[in-house]
Amino acid sequence: MQLKALHHVTFAVRDLDRQEAFCADFGLIRAERTDSRLVMRTEGGDEACYVAIKGDEDGFVGLAFEVDDAAMLGEAVARLGAEQRPDLDIPGGGRCVALTDPDGNQVLLVHGSARREAGQPDDDLVINTPFAKHRFGRQQSHREVGPARLWRLGHLALFVRSFAASSAWYAEKLGLIGSDVYHVPGVPQAQIVGFCRMDRGEDWVDHHTLAFMQDERGGCHHISFEAHDFEAQQRTHRHLGRKDYDAIWGVGRHPHGSHVFDVWRSPDGARFETFSDTDLFRKSDGTRVHDISTVVMDVWSDDEPTRYFI
Ligand SMILES: [Fe+2]
Repeated sequence: MQLKALHHVTFAVRDLDRQEAFCADFGLIRAERTDSRLVMRTEGGDEACYVAIKGDEDGFVGLAFEVDDAAMLGEAVARLGAEQRPDLDIPGGGRCVALTDPDGNQVLLVHGSARREAGQPDDDLVINTPFAKHRFGRQQSHREVGPARLWRLGHLALFVRSFAASSAWYAEKLGLIGSDVYHVPGVPQAQIVGFCRMDRGEDWVDHHTLAFMQDERGGCHHISFEAHDFEAQQRTHRHLGRKDYDAIWGVGRHPHGSHVFDVWRSPDGARFETFSDTDLFRKSDGTRVHDISTVVMDVWSDDEPTRYFI
């Protein structure tokens, strides 16, 4: 099974009004809103990437991947035991089939969704260093302090009850490959956390599209959307802080994957992240395994990410 990209995530949310207000401040754009459902998109051309269904409890429902061609949906039914589902009724539509992962999360495979024209990107930063000057007679590219301009849903991290079971399931069913995997201190066979990328052969893909963190709570740890660069993230960090939203961690840079991150809590208790500047890998780049006690999580700060896991 060759995955193309994440398609959307779905959550149950008690208060859609508060959630929509946060999503808009974070940088997502309303695609649809009814009394029972909120659908948001990015500026990157998707019609939908975040779905909140009104519920009695807040919680994670599932994730959806786009696949390369329609035949893969039939293959998923025949080979993986996926269930046929009606066409998606969110903006953009698309055919889909459904799997259920070891933690009970719904995993949709989608093909044929409509896309829209993407927005016009901001100018890239032009950086002057001590050794190379590139910007002459003008200021650095100016960005507003405000909601992020987000370009795609890039990855999500799941709390899983068994790292071994979940990583094996996603590898076997969907071809996910470990990029960086972490084990209990001194016990290499006890792997508990991993960042996994899609198998697209020798095409370059993000360092991770899905991450697993072994934790009895289950559900989703965070969802992450790509911003232009760290400058855009810093300005949105300032905007969200002015609105008194709940900052969790960042702006920082992870050592593995190298991406710049900034994590905020949404009103439903979920974690929303902006990221930029992620590493790219191919299938042949293999898997790196680490003792988790040796890993620094933020190369820019010694702050403990205590709020990241509560
Ligand atoms: Fe992330």
